[in-house]
Amino acid sequence: MENITKHPILEIPERKKIKFKFDEKELIGFEGLVISSALFLNSIKIFGHHVKDSSPQGIFCANGQCSQCNVIADGIPVKACMTPLKDGMEIRSCNGLPELPIDDEPVDVSDADIITTSVLIIGAGPAGLSAATIFGEHEIDVILIDDKDRLGGKLVLQTHKFFGSQKDVYAGKRGIDIARILGDQIKSLDIVKTWINSTCLAVFSDKLVGVLKNNEEYVLISPKYLLIATGAREKMLAFPGNTLPGVYGAGAFQTLVNRDLIKAAERIFIVGGGNVGLITGYHAIQAGIQVIGLIEAMPSCGGYKVHEDKLRRLGVPIYTSHTILSANGTNNVESITIGQINENGESLPNTTKTFRCDTILIAVGLNPVDEFYHKAKEFGMRVWVAGDAQEIAEASAAIFTGRIEALKILEKMGIEFEEDIDDLENLAAIMKAKPPEPITLNITEKTEGIFPLFHCNQEIPCNPCTSVCPQDQIKTYDNIITNLPYFKDEKDCIGCGKCIAVCPGLAVILIDFRKSKEFPSVTFPLELSANKVEKGIKVSVVGNDMEFGKFEVKRARILPEFPKTQLITVELPLKIAKEATGIRLNESSYNEALDIYQKGFTDNETIVCRCERISVGEIRHWIRNGIRDFNELKALTKVGMGSCGGKTCTPLINRIFREEGVAIEDIIPGTKRPLYIEIPMKIFAGIKDKKED
Ligand code: FES
Repeated sequence: MENITKHPILEIPERKKIKFKFDEKELIGFEGLVISSALFLNSIKIFGHHVKDSSPQGIFCANGQCSQCNVIADGIPVKACMTPLKDGMEIRSCNGLPELPIDDEPVDVSDADIITTSVLIIGAGPAGLSAATIFGEHEIDVILIDDKDRLGGKLVLQTHKFFGSQKDVYAGKRGIDIARILGDQIKSLDIVKTWINSTCLAVFSDKLVGVLKNNEEYVLISPKYLLIATGAREKMLAFPGNTLPGVYGAGAFQTLVNRDLIKAAERIFIVGGGNVGLITGYHAIQAGIQVIGLIEAMPSCGGYKVHEDKLRRLGVPIYTSHTILSANGTNNVESITIGQINENGESLPNTTKTFRCDTILIAVGLNPVDEFYHKAKEFGMRVWVAGDAQEIAEASAAIFTGRIEALKILEKMGIEFEEDIDDLENLAAIMKAKPPEPITLNITEKTEGIFPLFHCNQEIPCNPCTSVCPQDQIKTYDNIITNLPYFKDEKDCIGCGKCIAVCPGLAVILIDFRKSKEFPSVTFPLELSANKVEKGIKVSVVGNDMEFGKFEVKRARILPEFPKTQLITVELPLKIAKEATGIRLNESSYNEALDIYQKGFTDNETIVCRCERISVGEIRHWIRNGIRDFNELKALTKVGMGSCGGKTCTPLINRIFREEGVAIEDIIPGTKRPLYIEIPMKIFAGIKDKKED
């Protein structure tokens, strides 16, 4: 695998090479990488083998949540996706259970320090950062903690431009840039203390919060007010082959590619047509990775239509009403088998297709990371929740809910503020709304002058095009942010191209009839080339589902305010000019399905609990024997008792209960106890001076 050295959006920094060993082999990584990314860089996807059945293990979440990525680093078992690589590190694959030292010495155990603060915010993503800004601006002392090495949460993985309004949530800017803006606001507020590389482990009945500070010290925080902004974790799916290395979450892929600049795959297949799946496909193509296809179980994709159109234009086949039947391979993913399903989710015979790929990305939704919130509530703490931990939605909604919950806390503190919480709640509700069905657009008959043409065909909350027009000629109908935009045509368009460059959906083109009515000039946005496109080369002009042929570039420019979006102008015949929606530089490479035999699988070959390798078949067996209590299931099978603490399997088990006709209210939930995240015993016990633990 390679290091990404060119990217149309991301800056490629100079990275210092460092040496490390994996299973005795000397390898090269980069300073600043986590171990998992350094292993991927060296084409190592198998990090160990499971103790129960010796099956190969690799990453799934790359976010510290699933505990699949354990390796032994300098003698200590660690999560590869959360542990920074160090020069000279000796890493071993984790085969079976890690060994304990034979001899152990008595140690001095010390109590953790207790730190007080007015507000503790857990999570420095869009919600946590927005909330911390509000507190900082009101001179309230805050500790903001995050388990990653930088501020921004998932924003730092997002290379695409965001929807929403420019005024409130930086619409038209890329996630990576919004992370920087929000982070800079925090850095200017001395009263906000930020602890990065710090993980919240537990909340306790004495209203203390246990934190692993800076990955090396266990401290307890006694907050007067607690705000949980811990985000979300990716959902897993149960299907044969789901634990093969090479099957992992779309967020993990974004982490490898967009944060750590590793070309993590050659050929990916995406499961899930929501915004995360669609946009990850686009990110893959930006990184030079081929997207073989995307499946969605519903009859249409659930994500924004403009995100879907970006993939369709680039020739990615999208199979709706399809599900994954299996991931195939011995030690790694070698292919995927998909099949069509009916409206009841039942497989249709003779519809299976198998495609060769090395990676299958699971993008079937997110679950809130909300266990801290519920536990704190149970213990009577003054606790609020924001962002995805409150409700799964876009990052723009999280910016609002972070502000709203911070204001609610200020209200409780008796501090006055100017903002109106109800207004903000209304705006947040707009951002959270599910996208409606796309609309068939009536394309204008006009063939004179120059004007923007909007291929924006779904009423989603987005209006940056209305804010950038220097002639103030773009509006949304009735000035409502979810309504479609239009060109007012009261003053001349000056052809500046800002509306094209700012559009998050790449859904605006500029059409210019001033020189020719038969062959107007048409300008498209392009975010796929790290090199500036040269005048005179030929590019493919495409609609959302068709290709119109190759045309010569007449002009290529980049606006200073939008340095990563190239504006490419070609001259097109009139009948194509208004239908074309984009350009691409390379040929589409549609992949035919492989003509290979596909075997059937049983429930016993589908893993539901990755940590303890418990199959769907085992769970079904006990449900059919009358088990309704999660704790009993645990005792009988060990399900949910692995190192992830049941975070990955619990939703899947609930689903099996549903499939077996058991109502959710008849299921007795399992007992949840702190700790929610693993911590080395040495640090938990406050032992600071021993190495041989
Ligand atoms: S991949 Fe490391 S914890 Fe999930």
